[in-house]
Amino acid sequence: MNHCMNENIEKIYYSEQELADVVRRVGAEISRDYADSEPVLVGILKGSVVFMTDLMRALTIPCSIDFMVVSSYGSGTKTSGVVQILKDLNQPIEGKDVILVEDILDSGMTLAYVTRFLQARNPKSIRVCTLLDKPARRKADIAADYKGYDVPDEFIVGYGLDYNEQYRNLPYIGVLKRSVYEK
Ligand code: IMP
Ligand code: MG
Repeated sequence: MNHCMNENIEKIYYSEQELADVVRRVGAEISRDYADSEPVLVGILKGSVVFMTDLMRALTIPCSIDFMVVSSYGSGTKTSGVVQILKDLNQPIEGKDVILVEDILDSGMTLAYVTRFLQARNPKSIRVCTLLDKPARRKADIAADYKGYDVPDEFIVGYGLDYNEQYRNLPYIGVLKRSVYEK
């Protein structure tokens, strides 16, 4: 077995190469739209970390980065709806163009909350960039300004996305076998 193919992965959705291609495409879109700006990329830890580090290197414009830690999920596969800020930004964002970077937009509760929370600091703008989007599961009124792919309502892992803190280091994105979380 390939060392990258995990026995708990049902199928691979996006290969390492496909992810590299989509990150380059999204990076080009952002670089074009922010040609006269110097945005702050705000990664929502931990899920965004792999996407963030690739995305920032795909930008051809100057930018800075910051991170927030936000809890929305417990240890399972469903959102609790309760959002908590566990780590705030290190830098002020007043008058700045902010791009929130997420691994996946699911119910949207997390980003809707974070957007409202940061809006109070009077940034020039806030946009949302997500690698993956599950539009079928949206509850909050929020949409991605930049996105990699739409995905169906399946629990996926890899490239930063976890199940119980595992699988974030897979270089591809795949669907977890149901037997892993339906025990
Ligand atoms: P939301 O508030 O429901 O939009 O939750 C978004 C967060 O839930 C993401 O940043 C992920 O951490 C997590 N999440 C949602 N769907 C998945 C999934 O399929 N796999 C892994 N994590 C997920
Ligand atoms: Mg996350």
